[in-house]
Amino acid sequence: MDSSNSDKVHVFSSSSELLEKLNLKWSSVEKKPYPAMYSSIFGGIVLDPALMVIPIDDHMVHRGHGVFDTAIIIDGYLYELDVHLDRFLRSASKARISSPFLQSTLRSILIQLAAASQCKKGTLRYWLSAGPGDFLLSPAGCTTSAFYAVVIDEDFSQCREGVKVITSTIPMKSPLFATMKNVNYLPNVLSKMEAEEQGASASIWVDDEGYIAEGPNVNVAFVTRDKELILPSFDKILSGCTAKRLLQLAPKLVERGLLNGVKTANLTVKEAKDAAEMMYVGSTLPLLPIVMWDDQTIGDGKVGELTMALSDLIWEDMVAGPETQRIPVPYA
Ligand SMILES: Cc1ncc(COP(=O)(O)O)c(C=O)c1O
Repeated sequence: MDSSNSDKVHVFSSSSELLEKLNLKWSSVEKKPYPAMYSSIFGGIVLDPALMVIPIDDHMVHRGHGVFDTAIIIDGYLYELDVHLDRFLRSASKARISSPFLQSTLRSILIQLAAASQCKKGTLRYWLSAGPGDFLLSPAGCTTSAFYAVVIDEDFSQCREGVKVITSTIPMKSPLFATMKNVNYLPNVLSKMEAEEQGASASIWVDDEGYIAEGPNVNVAFVTRDKELILPSFDKILSGCTAKRLLQLAPKLVERGLLNGVKTANLTVKEAKDAAEMMYVGSTLPLLPIVMWDDQTIGDGKVGELTMALSDLIWEDMVAGPETQRIPVPYA
């Protein structure tokens, strides 16, 4: 075949021809990973993965002008949706994106989406964007902001194996950008790749004052040799919903005499590396024990007992916690 022919780009003659091709791709996938998507541009929910698309002239696509958040679906309940939605709208306000809907409507859409997906275990991810309009830097031409959401069918369970982490050499985001969950995750992606290349699970960011910050998509927590649970304070990092819940639940271990205290504080690298136990904290983990950091073992190098006791507290809250934390999904 002559090369000019093989390089010839096909021009689809109709949208149905393209749809046929997209459907062919999805028909060979046994279990669809994305059972449902909502788009305010469509004004509804789609179940066909071939239609789960967003406009290329959306300011979030070409300028990163968007924010996002998540929530997990576990045993048919949405866990901590309201706390995630509060953070979502705080992020949107920092990114100067006004929501096309009231918070109560966003909540109702997400619950209906989870129900339509029939997914009993997975994650819900949602975005607010300045919306489609043109390809300029200013969002002035984007007349209506957009809301997108998708359900991802995925399994997760309590993490019980210890992992290795490294100190990130990728510069962390400045506080304005680190405290809002905006779609610019390039530093986070590079930091994760750097860790994986070195056989580590992920990385730890240290801030410009030398204090422990967070991981690329997780918070970090420590149990000191005096049995105190310490999390870095949230003024320069993302205020993690799981980390905040951990701070509410951990005093139960103080009551049981297992911990001596629970607090947020600034921790230096030396103080942190001297901890008895260390862990990542984030939505689907909910806690991931860390046993080695930059070739230094943490504590005795084994998964910490207090880490697992804290993990049990959160897991119990996820699967059987109060109605304030868990919304039953009204499946049809
Ligand atoms: C940068 C960053 N820090 C921390 C977290 C943990 O937050 P959460 O517990 O709400 O999942 C995330 C999760 O999305 C994150 O992206």
